[in-house]
Amino acid sequence: MSTPVLETENLVKVYGRGAARFEALKGLTIQINRGETVAIVGKSGSGKSTLMHLLALLDQPTHGVVALEEKPVTQMKPTKISKLRNETFGFVFQQFFLNANQTVLENVTLPLKIAGVGKAERNRRGMKALEQLEMADKAKNKATNLSGGQKQRVCIARALINNPSVIFADEPTGNLDSATSETVEEILFGLHREHGITLVIVTHDEDLAAKCQRRLIMQDGEIVREENGAQTAEGTR
Ligand SMILES: Nc1ncnc2c1ncn2[C@@H]1O[C@H](COP(=O)(O)OP(=O)(O)OP(=O)(O)O)[C@@H](O)[C@H]1O
Ligand SMILES: [Mg+2]
Repeated sequence: MSTPVLETENLVKVYGRGAARFEALKGLTIQINRGETVAIVGKSGSGKSTLMHLLALLDQPTHGVVALEEKPVTQMKPTKISKLRNETFGFVFQQFFLNANQTVLENVTLPLKIAGVGKAERNRRGMKALEQLEMADKAKNKATNLSGGQKQRVCIARALINNPSVIFADEPTGNLDSATSETVEEILFGLHREHGITLVIVTHDEDLAAKCQRRLIMQDGEIVREENGAQTAEGTR
């Protein structure tokens, strides 16, 4: 039943050295199962993004291990790690900006370009993803000429394009009004329900966190508490 998709053992992340040395993660051992929805919550600076970056194989731990589908990743070659990341994960990160000068379609299909998929196939799959998010009519727009909620939907389309098994979202509703936040949440949880995609979401939004099946509560680089069970009808469906 509960196959781990991601596991960590004694994960430590230290930034800087000497007087600037800072232990952002203090030895975390966690497991995220296939098809789960997990929220990472906690105060600003508690280490949420750091943990997510390590889980998403975007950064290396100082000590400890991250395993993807029960294979330790830490010892793999960087090119292998990049390939795994591109094949397995989708990202909805505010700092992964859309390229303003490229079209919506070019932005969405970038992960396929990285994977070496030909242009016709890229565009076909890109349009399909944009249709799912009701953004097909904006495919030829420059990414800069979009509203905040539209940009977020383009980010989700890009996150979906590789049929990822895990989507990582860092404050996916951070800068959005409540109606647009709701749309983005519906899209993310819909992907979970319909395609069994694992969601790992960093959020300050308590309502969004409550919709996840598990909440990991972080404080000063540690997980101080874990809560189980979605707390709304949305999450228990
Ligand atoms: N590159 C870095 N160099 C030095 N310190 C860093 C670096 N990145 C993060 N930190 C520090 O590590 C701690 C955890 O940062 P992190 O970004 O994981 O927090 P967070 O929980 O995501 O916060 P927020 O809710 O504000 O996004 C913070 O004290 C931060 O200042
Ligand atoms: Mg953060």
